Amino acid sequence: MSLHPNLEPLAPLVGTWRGSARGEYPTITSFTYTDAWQFIDVGKPFLLFVERTWNAEGAPMHTETGYVRSPGGGVVEIVAAIPTGQSELGVGTVATEGAVTTVATDAEVRCTPSAKQVDRIVRRFVVEGDALAYTMEMAAVGQGVTLHLTSALTRQG
Ligand code: HEM
Repeated sequence: MSLHPNLEPLAPLVGTWRGSARGEYPTITSFTYTDAWQFIDVGKPFLLFVERTWNAEGAPMHTETGYVRSPGGGVVEIVAAIPTGQSELGVGTVATEGAVTTVATDAEVRCTPSAKQVDRIVRRFVVEGDALAYTMEMAAVGQGVTLHLTSALTRQG
């Protein structure tokens, strides 16, 4: 199956990634976790993604799923569902500089009544060969946009 032409700039992201990550926020105790992402081409002008995470004992932690849409012209859009009760809708860019592809998104968030308040999610994926660096900043629980996640992954397939 060939990639939809709009997805060409996102091609380096397609695949399965796994690595070690760290979480932090001014309101919580920092933690480490194993991070795994899949960016899946389904033949349409978007990638389906699934993230799963585990603690050091192998117990499941956060998971999420969504889409990186590609209307073209270096623009991307993110639509994601977060099971702690948030939904994410945002816009961003995909840029290629030499061997480095950077996907950056900035999103509004809606929360279910029982969820912790999250107002904004800012994500950055940097792919260079078989290495993926991911960061996520958020405005949540009364804090401004502040780092929550830093992950270093390598391609598994
Ligand atoms: C879009 C994705 C995510 C969002 C919107 C999000 C949001 C939040 C929020 C709002 C808090 C609560 C902060 C507070 O109560 O002061 C939190 C805490 C936390 N998050 Fe995330 N998070 C995300 C991804 C992740 C991921 C990938 C992990 C990896 C395991 C993770 C692990 C944690 C942990 C362990 C805490 C602390 C829980 C506690 O101390 O009660 N989060 N997150």
